[in-house]
Amino acid sequence: MPTFELLYVSTRPRKTTDQIVVDDIVLPAMRVNRALDITGCLWFGPTRFLQILEGEKDVVEELYARIQQDTRHRDVRLVHSGPIAARSFQRWAMHPIKGSETDEISALLSTLAPNAVPLTAPASTPTRVPENCSLRVKLLSLATRKHAGTPHA
Ligand SMILES: Cc1cc2nc3c(=O)[nH]c(=O)nc-3n(C[C@H](O)[C@H](O)[C@H](O)COP(=O)(O)O)c2cc1C
Repeated sequence: MPTFELLYVSTRPRKTTDQIVVDDIVLPAMRVNRALDITGCLWFGPTRFLQILEGEKDVVEELYARIQQDTRHRDVRLVHSGPIAARSFQRWAMHPIKGSETDEISALLSTLAPNAVPLTAPASTPTRVPENCSLRVKLLSLATRKHAGTPHA
């Protein structure tokens, strides 16, 4: 069965503090994801989340269904999902990346927002693949830059 990836964006409410993100979302997610053979990253900017989940299709979709119900974020929108030749985040059960309003991901999300990141479109409307690729490449570059040489699974 080919590996599958899913990218989504969501709105991060103010009440979901950095401490909640790290202690209550990322750390438990790492444990669960390891057991499910899920890898990926979670970029958390001041007002948005962007997450990539990689793994077996059914497992990823089941997890995404749970994540969508989570009240620690809202307006969960699918950016892209589909098969991939290989995982990009194979070293990380869930790599947290703290973002800012001025980083490359925020810039990319803003550029893409009107048409590509379907913040107002139904969750089933994915973006075109090239935009998904640039988000993945940027995330991977942030992940490897920050933790060069230190696997963080
Ligand atoms: C932004 C965000 C990202 C999340 N990422 C994961 C994840 O990668 N893996 C995971 O097991 N849970 C993740 N969760 C937590 C799930 O939404 C959910 O709480 C968890 O799977 C337990 O689900 P359950 O209470 O239905 O058993 C995330 C939650 C949020 C808000």
